[in-house]
Amino acid sequence: MAKQKKERKFIAMDFGSHSTRIYIEGLGIVFDEATVMALNTKNRKILAIGNEAAKLVGKTNNSTRLEYPLKNGVIANIEVLKEFIGAALGQYQDDLVGSIMLIACPLSVTTLERKALVDLVKNLGAYYVQTEDDVKMAALGAGYDIFEPTGILSLDIGAGKATAGAISADGVISYKWTKVAGNALDEEIVKYIRARYNMEVGVVTGEKVKINIGTLIKTKNPLKIKVFGREVVSGMPKEIVLTDSEISKLVQVCFGNLTVLITSVLEDTPNELAGDIIRNGIIVTGAMSGIQGVKDFFEDFFEIPVKVAKNASTAVIDGAVLYKKKMLQLMEEKIENKENLYN
Ligand SMILES: Nc1ncnc2c1ncn2[C@@H]1O[C@H](COP(=O)(O)OP(=O)(O)OP(=O)(O)O)[C@@H](O)[C@H]1O
Ligand SMILES: [Mg+2]
Repeated sequence: MAKQKKERKFIAMDFGSHSTRIYIEGLGIVFDEATVMALNTKNRKILAIGNEAAKLVGKTNNSTRLEYPLKNGVIANIEVLKEFIGAALGQYQDDLVGSIMLIACPLSVTTLERKALVDLVKNLGAYYVQTEDDVKMAALGAGYDIFEPTGILSLDIGAGKATAGAISADGVISYKWTKVAGNALDEEIVKYIRARYNMEVGVVTGEKVKINIGTLIKTKNPLKIKVFGREVVSGMPKEIVLTDSEISKLVQVCFGNLTVLITSVLEDTPNELAGDIIRNGIIVTGAMSGIQGVKDFFEDFFEIPVKVAKNASTAVIDGAVLYKKKMLQLMEEKIENKENLYN
């Protein structure tokens, strides 16, 4: 009996400094976990990846080490990233073989690094692979028609980086990115607690404070959070209560930096397109846009429409899924023109 031809699956991937998301056609988002690996220090054997590995933050010992493939928005170590992606995709080998795959990449990822990633998934069995800029996928995933020849500003505020890009006709016309994003704010909160309360806490606590009481608006009733740590000098356990007004300055500075970023992109954008952006506005994605008051903050500053995506934390992967149709077209064109599928 003739063997039935296997259907090509579409796979999309968004590797972020905080979380990696993988979508497999027919299965949905199969992986949405921390971008970290726990390794055996002696033989580099992978002990855990994703959320399981993240549980070990601050709890590693001599035989276990955590490795982060991405730091501050850039690939810290391409070999580590390849190991991580290989492990995350490993259990979906059947779907991967013969698949069509889109990898959403930060704009900081170089052509050489993109090629290394394409080669990796190709070696794992993918048939056709393409990389696309994550800030463009974010706008598409948030519901904007990126194929129209009219401009919009896409602002993605993640953990390791925030990117602002002027998008039009399926291209990123101008962009800027900064390391001042979620992780940087966590670190500022840690520094504040140390300086103000002589108390040592880790970045996990800094993140908790940011998510629970970080806001850009003046709240009627103060938001509060209990924080545990250690007295800097004595090392004794200590507990304090923080309020939103204490850390609002840090949140304001972080978002103030983003206004500078956007202004700089607008300055680099051709006049016509900048005019479109004034009308169409800014679309904000990335989990950091969960901070209260983001829409009003940017609207007050720029006086243009601002929309915070409902699917802010999955907008990149959602956009990558929507990009499938365009990718198939490109693939067909390459096949027709007998071009190399991997260039
Ligand atoms: N409700 C929330 N309010 C504020 N910040 C949040 C909230 N939820 C998550 N975050 C923060 O958002 C950041 C993660 O965002 P996201 O998942 O978009 O990043 P990423 O895609 O992994 O990283 P990047 O795109 O920067 O490489 C973290 O700093 C996290 O603490
Ligand atoms: Mg991201």
